[in-house]
Amino acid sequence: AAAPLFAVAMPLVPVLAPVSTAGGVDVYEMTMRTVTKEILPGLRTELRTYNGQFPGPTIKARRNRPVVVRQRNELDVHTSVHLHGAALPPSEDGAPMDVIAPGAERRYTYPNRQPHASLWYHDHAHHVESENVYRGLHGSYLLTDEEEEALPLPKDEYDVLIAIRDAHFDTADGTLLYQMGDRARTTFLVNGAPYPYFEVASRSYRLRFANHSNQRFLELRLADDGDMVQIASDGGLLPRPHTTKAIHLSSGERADVVIDFSRYPVGTRLVLENTGPGAVEDVSQVMRFDVVRTAEDDSSVPRVLRSLPRLPAPTAERTVVLRMDEDGRAHPRAYIDEKLYDPARVDIRIRPGASEIWTVTNANTKAPHNFHMHLVQFRVLQRNGAAPGPEESGLKDTVRLLPGETVTLQAAFDTYRGTYVYHCHMLDHSAMGMMATMKIG
Ligand code: C2O
Ligand code: CU
Repeated sequence: AAAPLFAVAMPLVPVLAPVSTAGGVDVYEMTMRTVTKEILPGLRTELRTYNGQFPGPTIKARRNRPVVVRQRNELDVHTSVHLHGAALPPSEDGAPMDVIAPGAERRYTYPNRQPHASLWYHDHAHHVESENVYRGLHGSYLLTDEEEEALPLPKDEYDVLIAIRDAHFDTADGTLLYQMGDRARTTFLVNGAPYPYFEVASRSYRLRFANHSNQRFLELRLADDGDMVQIASDGGLLPRPHTTKAIHLSSGERADVVIDFSRYPVGTRLVLENTGPGAVEDVSQVMRFDVVRTAEDDSSVPRVLRSLPRLPAPTAERTVVLRMDEDGRAHPRAYIDEKLYDPARVDIRIRPGASEIWTVTNANTKAPHNFHMHLVQFRVLQRNGAAPGPEESGLKDTVRLLPGETVTLQAAFDTYRGTYVYHCHMLDHSAMGMMATMKIG
Protein backbone atom coordinates (compact mmCIF):
# COMPACT_ATOMS: atom_id res chain seq x y z
CA ALA A 1 0.00 0.00 0.00
CA ALA A 2 1.07 3.56 -0.65
CA ALA A 3 0.21 4.57 2.90
CA PRO A 4 0.25 2.80 6.25
CA LEU A 5 -3.10 1.43 7.35
CA PHE A 6 -5.00 3.12 10.18
CA ALA A 7 -2.19 5.51 11.04
CA VAL A 8 -4.16 8.77 10.89
CA ALA A 9 -7.45 9.89 12.39
CA MET A 10 -10.29 10.34 9.93
CA PRO A 11 -10.81 14.07 9.39
CA LEU A 12 -14.33 15.39 9.79
CA VAL A 13 -15.11 17.48 6.74
CA PRO A 14 -15.60 21.08 7.91
CA VAL A 15 -18.97 22.71 7.33
CA LEU A 16 -18.70 25.99 5.45
CA ALA A 17 -20.10 29.08 7.15
CA PRO A 18 -22.13 31.47 5.00
CA VAL A 19 -20.69 34.95 4.41
CA SER A 20 -24.22 36.33 4.70
CA THR A 21 -27.70 35.09 5.60
CA ALA A 22 -29.63 38.26 4.78
CA GLY A 23 -33.14 37.93 3.34
CA GLY A 24 -33.38 34.20 4.07
CA VAL A 25 -30.65 33.36 1.56
CA ASP A 26 -27.39 31.76 2.64
CA VAL A 27 -24.52 33.14 0.59
CA TYR A 28 -21.26 31.22 0.43
CA GLU A 29 -17.94 31.99 -1.19
CA MET A 30 -15.50 29.49 -2.53
CA THR A 31 -12.25 29.84 -4.36
CA MET A 32 -10.97 27.06 -6.54
CA ARG A 33 -7.25 26.99 -6.12
CA THR A 34 -4.20 24.79 -6.11
CA VAL A 35 -2.78 23.85 -2.75
CA THR A 36 -0.15 21.43 -1.57
CA LYS A 37 -1.02 19.17 1.36
CA GLU A 38 0.45 16.25 3.21
CA ILE A 39 -1.67 13.20 2.40
CA LEU A 40 0.95 10.47 2.43
CA PRO A 41 3.22 10.74 5.47
CA GLY A 42 6.18 13.05 4.86
CA LEU A 43 5.22 13.87 1.24
CA ARG A 44 3.47 16.85 -0.33
CA THR A 45 0.66 16.39 -2.85
CA GLU A 46 -0.59 19.10 -5.15
CA LEU A 47 -4.38 19.29 -5.30
CA ARG A 48 -7.08 21.29 -7.06
CA THR A 49 -9.40 22.36 -4.29
CA TYR A 50 -12.46 24.29 -3.26
CA ASN A 51 -11.21 26.79 -0.67
CA GLY A 52 -7.94 24.99 -0.17
CA GLN A 53 -9.77 22.05 1.42
CA PHE A 54 -9.70 18.42 0.40
CA PRO A 55 -12.39 17.28 0.01
CA GLY A 56 -14.23 20.56 -0.43
CA PRO A 57 -16.12 21.99 2.55
CA THR A 58 -19.60 20.68 3.27
CA ILE A 59 -22.54 22.97 2.66
CA LYS A 60 -25.57 22.37 4.87
CA ALA A 61 -28.80 23.55 3.32
CA ARG A 62 -32.49 23.48 4.23
CA ARG A 63 -35.39 22.85 1.94
CA ASN A 64 -36.96 26.07 0.55
CA ARG A 65 -34.12 28.19 1.85
CA PRO A 66 -32.05 29.29 -1.17
CA VAL A 67 -28.29 29.06 -1.25
CA VAL A 68 -25.99 31.19 -3.38
CA VAL A 69 -22.45 30.02 -3.95
CA ARG A 70 -19.98 32.47 -5.45
CA GLN A 71 -17.24 30.42 -7.08
CA ARG A 72 -13.99 32.01 -8.11
CA ASN A 73 -11.69 30.02 -10.38
CA GLU A 74 -8.05 30.65 -9.52
CA LEU A 75 -6.93 27.43 -11.19
CA ASP A 76 -5.27 27.37 -14.60
CA VAL A 77 -8.00 25.12 -16.05
CA HIS A 78 -11.64 25.70 -16.87
CA THR A 79 -14.14 24.48 -14.30
CA SER A 80 -17.90 24.09 -13.94
CA VAL A 81 -19.46 23.41 -10.57
CA HIS A 82 -22.25 20.85 -10.79
CA LEU A 83 -24.54 20.17 -7.84
CA HIS A 84 -25.15 16.46 -8.32
CA GLY A 85 -28.68 15.28 -7.55
CA ALA A 86 -30.23 18.74 -7.43
CA ALA A 87 -33.20 20.06 -9.37
CA LEU A 88 -31.89 23.35 -10.74
CA PRO A 89 -32.61 25.73 -13.60
CA PRO A 90 -30.21 24.96 -16.48
CA SER A 91 -28.20 28.13 -15.83
CA GLU A 92 -27.37 26.96 -12.28
CA ASP A 93 -26.71 23.30 -13.05
CA GLY A 94 -22.98 23.46 -13.72
CA ALA A 95 -23.31 21.99 -17.19
CA PRO A 96 -20.30 20.59 -19.09
CA MET A 97 -20.02 23.50 -21.55
CA ASP A 98 -21.07 26.26 -19.15
CA VAL A 99 -17.59 26.80 -17.80
CA ILE A 100 -15.79 29.26 -15.56
CA ALA A 101 -12.59 30.41 -17.28
CA PRO A 102 -9.39 30.70 -15.28
CA GLY A 103 -9.53 33.97 -13.36
CA ALA A 104 -13.29 34.30 -13.73
CA GLU A 105 -16.05 33.92 -11.18
CA ARG A 106 -19.57 32.69 -11.22
CA ARG A 107 -22.55 32.80 -8.94
CA TYR A 108 -24.73 29.72 -8.64
CA THR A 109 -28.19 29.96 -7.05
CA TYR A 110 -29.72 26.83 -5.59
CA PRO A 111 -33.44 27.13 -4.75
CA ASN A 112 -33.46 23.89 -2.69
CA ARG A 113 -37.11 23.19 -3.44
CA GLN A 114 -36.64 19.44 -3.43
CA PRO A 115 -36.81 17.15 -0.37
CA HIS A 116 -33.81 16.36 1.84
CA ALA A 117 -30.91 14.44 0.24
CA SER A 118 -27.17 13.93 0.62
CA LEU A 119 -26.09 15.76 -2.53
CA TRP A 120 -22.57 16.55 -3.63
CA TYR A 121 -20.84 19.08 -5.82
CA HIS A 122 -18.01 18.42 -8.21
CA ASP A 123 -16.37 19.70 -11.32
CA HIS A 124 -18.07 19.09 -14.66
CA ALA A 125 -16.06 21.07 -17.26
CA HIS A 126 -16.18 18.92 -20.37
CA HIS A 127 -13.07 16.82 -21.00
CA VAL A 128 -11.33 18.00 -17.83
CA GLU A 129 -14.02 17.02 -15.29
CA SER A 130 -12.46 13.66 -14.69
CA GLU A 131 -9.02 15.04 -13.92
CA ASN A 132 -10.45 17.99 -11.98
CA VAL A 133 -12.50 15.73 -9.72
CA TYR A 134 -9.62 13.32 -9.36
CA ARG A 135 -7.30 16.14 -8.30
CA GLY A 136 -9.70 17.24 -5.59
CA LEU A 137 -12.71 19.17 -6.89
CA HIS A 138 -15.43 17.32 -4.98
CA GLY A 139 -17.42 18.09 -1.85
CA SER A 140 -20.74 17.40 -0.14
CA TYR A 141 -23.96 19.37 0.06
CA LEU A 142 -26.35 18.05 2.69
CA LEU A 143 -29.92 19.22 2.20
CA THR A 144 -32.33 18.62 5.05
CA ASP A 145 -36.02 19.26 5.65
CA GLU A 146 -38.58 19.00 8.44
CA GLU A 147 -39.62 15.50 7.48
CA GLU A 148 -36.08 14.23 7.96
CA GLU A 149 -35.40 16.28 11.10
CA ALA A 150 -38.52 14.97 12.82
CA LEU A 151 -37.13 11.44 12.87
CA PRO A 152 -35.20 10.17 15.92
CA LEU A 153 -32.15 9.17 13.85
CA PRO A 154 -28.62 9.81 15.17
CA LYS A 155 -27.84 13.52 14.87
CA ASP A 156 -25.08 16.09 15.30
CA GLU A 157 -21.74 14.48 16.17
CA TYR A 158 -23.30 11.06 15.54
CA ASP A 159 -24.22 11.95 11.95
CA VAL A 160 -20.97 11.71 10.02
CA LEU A 161 -20.04 12.15 6.37
CA ILE A 162 -17.69 9.46 5.06
CA ALA A 163 -16.57 10.44 1.55
CA ILE A 164 -14.53 7.65 -0.02
CA ARG A 165 -12.42 7.79 -3.15
CA ASP A 166 -9.40 6.11 -4.57
CA ALA A 167 -6.18 7.67 -5.80
CA HIS A 168 -2.87 6.74 -7.41
CA PHE A 169 0.18 8.35 -5.90
CA ASP A 170 3.77 8.45 -6.98
CA THR A 171 5.06 7.03 -3.73
CA ALA A 172 8.48 8.65 -4.20
CA ASP A 173 7.26 12.25 -4.18
CA GLY A 174 3.54 12.18 -3.33
CA THR A 175 2.34 13.36 -6.76
CA LEU A 176 -1.23 12.42 -7.59
CA LEU A 177 -0.92 10.56 -10.89
CA TYR A 178 -3.71 11.00 -13.39
CA GLN A 179 -4.27 8.99 -16.51
CA MET A 180 -7.63 8.16 -18.05
CA GLY A 181 -8.72 4.60 -17.38
CA ASP A 182 -5.94 4.10 -14.83
CA ARG A 183 -6.56 0.91 -12.86
CA ALA A 184 -3.85 1.62 -10.33
CA ARG A 185 -5.89 4.06 -8.27
CA THR A 186 -5.62 1.77 -5.34
CA THR A 187 -5.08 3.99 -2.32
CA PHE A 188 -8.30 4.72 -0.47
CA LEU A 189 -8.82 8.20 0.89
CA VAL A 190 -11.61 8.78 3.39
CA ASN A 191 -12.47 12.45 3.88
CA GLY A 192 -9.10 13.10 2.27
CA ALA A 193 -6.97 10.87 4.53
CA PRO A 194 -5.46 7.50 3.57
CA TYR A 195 -6.95 4.48 5.36
CA PRO A 196 -7.83 6.41 8.51
CA TYR A 197 -9.23 5.22 11.80
CA PHE A 198 -12.32 6.83 13.29
CA GLU A 199 -12.88 6.77 17.04
CA VAL A 200 -16.53 6.09 17.85
CA ALA A 201 -18.63 5.64 20.96
CA SER A 202 -20.44 2.36 21.56
CA ARG A 203 -23.77 3.66 20.31
CA SER A 204 -25.56 4.22 16.97
CA TYR A 205 -24.14 6.46 14.27
CA ARG A 206 -25.58 7.66 11.02
CA LEU A 207 -22.77 7.32 8.50
CA ARG A 208 -23.24 9.05 5.18
CA PHE A 209 -21.19 7.05 2.71
CA ALA A 210 -20.45 8.88 -0.52
CA ASN A 211 -18.41 7.46 -3.39
CA HIS A 212 -16.43 10.38 -4.82
CA SER A 213 -14.19 8.15 -6.97
CA ASN A 214 -13.91 8.79 -10.70
CA GLN A 215 -14.41 5.19 -11.64
CA ARG A 216 -14.29 2.75 -8.79
CA PHE A 217 -17.31 0.77 -7.65
CA LEU A 218 -17.36 0.10 -3.92
CA GLU A 219 -18.86 -2.79 -2.01
CA LEU A 220 -18.51 -1.83 1.63
CA ARG A 221 -18.66 -4.41 4.41
CA LEU A 222 -17.72 -4.64 8.04
CA ALA A 223 -14.88 -7.10 8.60
CA ASP A 224 -16.95 -9.09 11.12
CA ASP A 225 -19.74 -9.34 8.54
CA GLY A 226 -21.89 -7.30 10.93
CA ASP A 227 -25.15 -5.67 9.93
CA MET A 228 -25.57 -2.15 8.67
CA VAL A 229 -29.01 -0.59 8.46
CA GLN A 230 -29.32 1.37 5.25
CA ILE A 231 -31.68 4.30 5.72
CA ALA A 232 -31.05 6.53 2.71
CA SER A 233 -29.83 6.49 -0.88
CA ASP A 234 -28.96 9.28 -3.35
CA GLY A 235 -32.25 11.15 -3.02
CA GLY A 236 -32.80 10.88 0.73
CA LEU A 237 -34.46 8.43 3.08
CA LEU A 238 -35.65 5.05 1.88
CA PRO A 239 -39.31 4.25 2.54
CA ARG A 240 -38.17 1.68 5.11
CA PRO A 241 -34.81 0.85 6.62
CA HIS A 242 -33.14 -2.22 5.28
CA THR A 243 -30.60 -4.39 7.05
CA THR A 244 -27.66 -5.47 4.96
CA LYS A 245 -24.09 -6.69 5.10
CA ALA A 246 -22.95 -4.87 1.96
CA ILE A 247 -23.42 -1.39 0.53
CA HIS A 248 -22.83 -1.10 -3.22
CA LEU A 249 -21.84 2.33 -4.45
CA SER A 250 -20.77 3.06 -7.99
CA SER A 251 -18.95 6.33 -8.55
CA GLY A 252 -21.23 9.21 -7.58
CA GLU A 253 -23.72 7.18 -5.50
CA ARG A 254 -24.48 7.81 -1.82
CA ALA A 255 -25.96 5.65 0.93
CA ASP A 256 -26.60 6.49 4.56
CA VAL A 257 -26.40 3.66 7.07
CA VAL A 258 -26.93 3.38 10.79
CA ILE A 259 -24.39 1.20 12.54
CA ASP A 260 -25.01 0.34 16.16
CA PHE A 261 -21.56 0.15 17.72
CA SER A 262 -23.08 -0.72 21.11
CA ARG A 263 -22.90 -4.36 20.06
CA TYR A 264 -19.11 -4.10 20.28
CA PRO A 265 -17.24 -3.80 23.57
CA VAL A 266 -15.12 -0.71 24.10
CA GLY A 267 -11.70 -1.53 22.69
CA THR A 268 -13.04 -3.16 19.52
CA ARG A 269 -11.36 -2.26 16.25
CA LEU A 270 -13.53 -2.90 13.26
CA VAL A 271 -12.29 -2.58 9.70
CA LEU A 272 -14.51 -1.32 6.88
CA GLU A 273 -13.61 -3.39 3.83
CA ASN A 274 -14.17 -3.03 0.13
CA THR A 275 -15.02 -6.26 -1.66
CA GLY A 276 -16.05 -4.54 -4.89
CA PRO A 277 -14.76 -5.22 -8.38
CA GLY A 278 -11.07 -4.52 -8.78
CA ALA A 279 -10.54 -5.11 -5.08
CA VAL A 280 -7.04 -6.39 -4.63
CA GLU A 281 -4.96 -6.86 -1.52
CA ASP A 282 -4.13 -3.23 -0.88
CA VAL A 283 -7.60 -1.91 -1.46
CA SER A 284 -9.55 -4.49 0.50
CA GLN A 285 -9.37 -2.29 3.59
CA VAL A 286 -10.78 1.22 3.58
CA MET A 287 -10.79 2.52 7.16
CA ARG A 288 -11.21 1.32 10.72
CA PHE A 289 -13.77 2.12 13.41
CA ASP A 290 -12.24 2.11 16.89
CA VAL A 291 -14.81 1.83 19.66
CA VAL A 292 -13.20 3.91 22.39
CA ARG A 293 -15.92 4.98 24.84
CA THR A 294 -19.50 4.61 25.90
CA ALA A 295 -22.16 7.26 25.29
CA GLU A 296 -25.85 7.82 25.84
CA ASP A 297 -28.06 7.02 22.92
CA ASP A 298 -31.67 8.06 22.53
CA SER A 299 -31.69 7.65 18.77
CA SER A 300 -33.61 4.97 16.95
CA VAL A 301 -34.45 3.93 13.41
CA PRO A 302 -38.21 4.08 12.81
CA ARG A 303 -39.81 1.24 10.86
CA VAL A 304 -41.18 3.72 8.36
CA LEU A 305 -38.89 6.53 7.21
CA ARG A 306 -40.89 8.27 4.51
CA SER A 307 -43.65 7.69 2.04
CA LEU A 308 -43.07 8.16 -1.65
CA PRO A 309 -45.92 9.04 -3.98
CA ARG A 310 -47.38 6.41 -6.25
CA LEU A 311 -45.96 6.70 -9.73
CA PRO A 312 -48.30 8.03 -12.40
CA ALA A 313 -48.80 6.22 -15.70
CA PRO A 314 -45.80 7.04 -17.89
CA THR A 315 -46.21 9.47 -20.76
CA ALA A 316 -43.27 8.12 -22.77
CA GLU A 317 -40.97 5.12 -22.82
CA ARG A 318 -37.41 5.20 -24.08
CA THR A 319 -34.36 3.02 -24.29
CA VAL A 320 -30.77 4.11 -23.71
CA VAL A 321 -27.74 1.96 -24.51
CA LEU A 322 -24.31 2.50 -23.02
CA ARG A 323 -21.37 0.93 -24.80
CA MET A 324 -17.66 1.51 -25.00
CA ASP A 325 -14.88 0.10 -27.15
CA GLU A 326 -13.56 -2.98 -25.46
CA ASP A 327 -10.96 -4.06 -27.96
CA GLY A 328 -8.04 -2.80 -25.92
CA ARG A 329 -7.28 0.26 -28.05
CA ALA A 330 -5.22 2.98 -26.42
CA HIS A 331 -7.95 5.60 -26.62
CA PRO A 332 -11.27 3.81 -26.28
CA ARG A 333 -14.42 5.73 -27.06
CA ALA A 334 -17.56 5.56 -25.02
CA TYR A 335 -21.01 5.98 -26.52
CA ILE A 336 -24.62 6.54 -25.58
CA ASP A 337 -26.87 5.07 -28.25
CA GLU A 338 -23.78 4.70 -30.46
CA LYS A 339 -23.11 8.45 -30.40
CA LEU A 340 -20.35 10.43 -28.75
CA TYR A 341 -21.32 13.50 -26.76
CA ASP A 342 -21.97 16.52 -28.94
CA PRO A 343 -23.11 19.56 -27.00
CA ALA A 344 -24.74 20.97 -30.13
CA ARG A 345 -27.10 17.99 -30.44
CA VAL A 346 -30.30 17.28 -28.51
CA ASP A 347 -30.69 13.54 -28.10
CA ILE A 348 -34.01 13.32 -26.29
CA ARG A 349 -36.86 15.84 -26.30
CA ILE A 350 -39.15 15.73 -23.30
CA ARG A 351 -42.53 17.31 -22.76
CA PRO A 352 -42.71 19.49 -19.62
CA GLY A 353 -44.62 17.64 -16.94
CA ALA A 354 -43.86 14.25 -18.48
CA SER A 355 -43.28 11.17 -16.38
CA GLU A 356 -41.07 8.87 -18.44
CA ILE A 357 -39.80 5.34 -18.24
CA TRP A 358 -36.23 4.87 -19.41
CA THR A 359 -34.75 1.43 -19.91
CA VAL A 360 -30.99 1.73 -19.71
CA THR A 361 -28.70 -1.10 -20.80
CA ASN A 362 -25.00 -1.66 -20.46
CA ALA A 363 -24.18 -3.38 -23.74
CA ASN A 364 -20.62 -4.17 -22.71
CA THR A 365 -19.62 -7.64 -21.70
CA LYS A 366 -16.61 -6.65 -19.59
CA ALA A 367 -16.86 -2.98 -18.70
CA PRO A 368 -19.12 -1.75 -15.93
CA HIS A 369 -20.92 1.58 -16.32
CA ASN A 370 -23.39 3.55 -14.34
CA PHE A 371 -26.06 6.03 -15.31
CA HIS A 372 -26.75 9.50 -13.96
CA MET A 373 -29.38 12.01 -15.00
CA HIS A 374 -29.18 15.67 -14.15
CA LEU A 375 -32.27 17.53 -12.86
CA VAL A 376 -34.24 14.55 -11.56
CA GLN A 377 -34.38 12.06 -8.75
CA PHE A 378 -35.86 8.95 -10.30
CA ARG A 379 -37.35 5.67 -9.11
CA VAL A 380 -35.94 2.30 -10.08
CA LEU A 381 -38.72 0.08 -11.42
CA GLN A 382 -36.72 -2.96 -12.44
CA ARG A 383 -33.21 -4.31 -12.46
CA ASN A 384 -32.69 -7.03 -15.08
CA GLY A 385 -36.42 -7.52 -15.37
CA ALA A 386 -37.01 -8.07 -11.65
CA ALA A 387 -38.10 -5.76 -8.86
CA PRO A 388 -35.11 -3.83 -7.50
CA GLY A 389 -33.72 -4.62 -4.07
CA PRO A 390 -34.64 -2.47 -1.06
CA GLU A 391 -31.47 -0.40 -1.53
CA GLU A 392 -33.02 0.91 -4.73
CA SER A 393 -36.50 1.49 -3.32
CA GLY A 394 -36.00 5.21 -2.70
CA LEU A 395 -35.08 8.16 -4.89
CA LYS A 396 -31.96 7.77 -6.99
CA ASP A 397 -29.95 9.91 -9.36
CA THR A 398 -27.28 7.38 -10.27
CA VAL A 399 -27.54 3.61 -10.77
CA ARG A 400 -24.87 1.03 -11.34
CA LEU A 401 -24.92 -1.10 -14.47
CA LEU A 402 -22.64 -4.10 -14.41
CA PRO A 403 -21.78 -5.69 -17.78
CA GLY A 404 -24.97 -6.77 -19.54
CA GLU A 405 -27.30 -5.26 -16.94
CA THR A 406 -30.50 -3.36 -17.67
CA VAL A 407 -32.20 -0.94 -15.30
CA THR A 408 -35.67 0.50 -15.85
CA LEU A 409 -36.38 3.78 -14.15
CA GLN A 410 -39.11 6.38 -14.04
CA ALA A 411 -38.50 10.10 -13.82
CA ALA A 412 -40.82 13.09 -13.65
CA PHE A 413 -39.85 16.25 -15.55
CA ASP A 414 -42.09 18.61 -13.62
CA THR A 415 -39.66 21.25 -12.37
CA TYR A 416 -37.43 23.18 -14.78
CA ARG A 417 -37.25 23.39 -18.56
CA GLY A 418 -34.14 23.49 -20.67
CA THR A 419 -31.23 21.27 -21.64
CA TYR A 420 -29.45 18.93 -19.27
CA VAL A 421 -27.06 16.05 -19.68
CA TYR A 422 -27.30 12.41 -18.76
CA HIS A 423 -24.20 10.28 -18.71
CA CYS A 424 -22.12 7.48 -17.34
CA HIS A 425 -20.73 8.71 -14.00
CA MET A 426 -17.49 6.84 -14.40
CA LEU A 427 -15.93 10.20 -15.18
CA ASP A 428 -13.26 8.81 -17.46
CA HIS A 429 -16.12 7.45 -19.59
CA SER A 430 -18.11 10.67 -19.69
CA ALA A 431 -14.91 12.50 -20.64
CA MET A 432 -14.49 9.97 -23.49
CA GLY A 433 -17.96 10.83 -24.81
CA MET A 434 -20.47 8.75 -22.84
CA MET A 435 -22.80 11.66 -22.30
CA ALA A 436 -25.88 12.98 -24.07
CA THR A 437 -28.40 15.81 -23.90
CA MET A 438 -32.08 15.90 -23.02
CA LYS A 439 -34.23 18.95 -23.60
CA ILE A 440 -37.34 19.59 -21.57
CA GLY A 441 -39.77 21.88 -23.42
CU1 C2O B 1 -22.17 14.02 -10.70
CU2 C2O B 1 -23.22 15.07 -14.48
O1 C2O B 1 -22.63 14.56 -12.62
CU1 CU C 1 -19.19 4.05 -18.24
